[in-house]
Amino acid sequence: MKNKKVLITGGAGFIGSHVVRLFVNKHPNYDIVNLDKLTYAGNLENLTDVENKINYKFVKGCITDKEFINNLFEQEQFDSVIHLAAESHVDRSITNPLEFVETNVLGTVNLLIAANKIWKDKSDKLFYHISTDEVYGSLGETGLFTETTAYDPRSPYSSAKASSDHFVRAWAHTYDLPIVISNCSNNYGANQFPEKLLPLFINNIKNKKSLPVYGDGKYTRDWLWVNDHAAAIEVIFHKGKHMETYNIGGFNEWTNLDLIKLLCEQMDLKLGREEGTSEKLITYVKDRPGHDKRYAIDATKLEKELGWKPSVTFEEGLAITIDWYLQNEKWMNHVTSGNYQNYYKKQYVE
Ligand code: NAD
Ligand code: TYD
Repeated sequence: MKNKKVLITGGAGFIGSHVVRLFVNKHPNYDIVNLDKLTYAGNLENLTDVENKINYKFVKGCITDKEFINNLFEQEQFDSVIHLAAESHVDRSITNPLEFVETNVLGTVNLLIAANKIWKDKSDKLFYHISTDEVYGSLGETGLFTETTAYDPRSPYSSAKASSDHFVRAWAHTYDLPIVISNCSNNYGANQFPEKLLPLFINNIKNKKSLPVYGDGKYTRDWLWVNDHAAAIEVIFHKGKHMETYNIGGFNEWTNLDLIKLLCEQMDLKLGREEGTSEKLITYVKDRPGHDKRYAIDATKLEKELGWKPSVTFEEGLAITIDWYLQNEKWMNHVTSGNYQNYYKKQYVE
């Protein structure tokens, strides 16, 4: 395959680190540049196994810094961008919305401007935006999000992501920038910062701390193993039609309570605790304001047109994920040092 110089933004984060690893290992002929600000969610420990590979380079920097971004594109002359850098947690977007507008909207527009400036000949170029199913809003009891579902974002996080999707499409229509967008369901797996449901609860169960369930716990999410998301991104990057959108998901809906019960069951077994021990840690807390009721993705287009399918069942992916967190205590201790405890005191104590 032809050499390419690929910029991956947010590559030190949860999903980004899996995408970087996959591209560096699977495409030794590509030069991969990982641009990341290393916020609380970015961690180079996620990439120690690829840091010395000859086709990999890390650049520390912020996508909201216009001059820095323009200079980087001028210097590096990227052929493609896979854009993941973002503020990604809904709860934080409720308490600090402006940061989400700055990073997710302005940061994306800076990248679009910089790419459009250096891409005089647009053949073989691609700006790939990694987005979320949350842009489609909230579903009732039935139905699935398809690629033609109207945008209806409801949280500051999803509004900022929806806005950045619109800007990416605007650059395609106005400046003929070659783009592709994918919208994925909730990811789980190794290296996820323990503020999102699964790593937070795995860590709390391990430490016998309470499990704060928002509202009645009857909210539904559609879960996909992060390695399968990375594999889908790799397929869409190479085979996706430009100007198109692809929904990514594994047809795997769970209410929060059912998911938490399964997690408790698996962890009791792994930790050698009596059945039912961890479930007793469930504590119902105040609901998230504007909590979206249900997300569910129809990934038929991606499966039919590009032949992607998830590689594991949810039970398998969850077991691998629990094992990873139990075996990576050092990682967990590192990411939960510093401000972490203060943040969680504020969030969860009623
Ligand atoms: P994450 O919060 O784990 O990682 C985000 C990364 O972006 C971090 O490494 C952080 O340091 C970096 N970053 C943040 N602000 C930056 C800035 N101004 N400049 C440069 N780097 C910056 O997020 P994630 O869960 O890995 O999500 C990655 C992308 O995938 C996001 O765009 C998110 O919207 C999207 N997404 C996430 C999910 C999910 O379930 N986590 C699902 C669908 C889509
Ligand atoms: P989260 O992992 O924050 O992802 P998102 O809000 O993007 O879907 O939350 C997943 C679900 O779990 C969501 O319905 C909110 C709920 N939740 C809790 O009940 N308690 C928690 O402590 C967290 C973090 C989430």
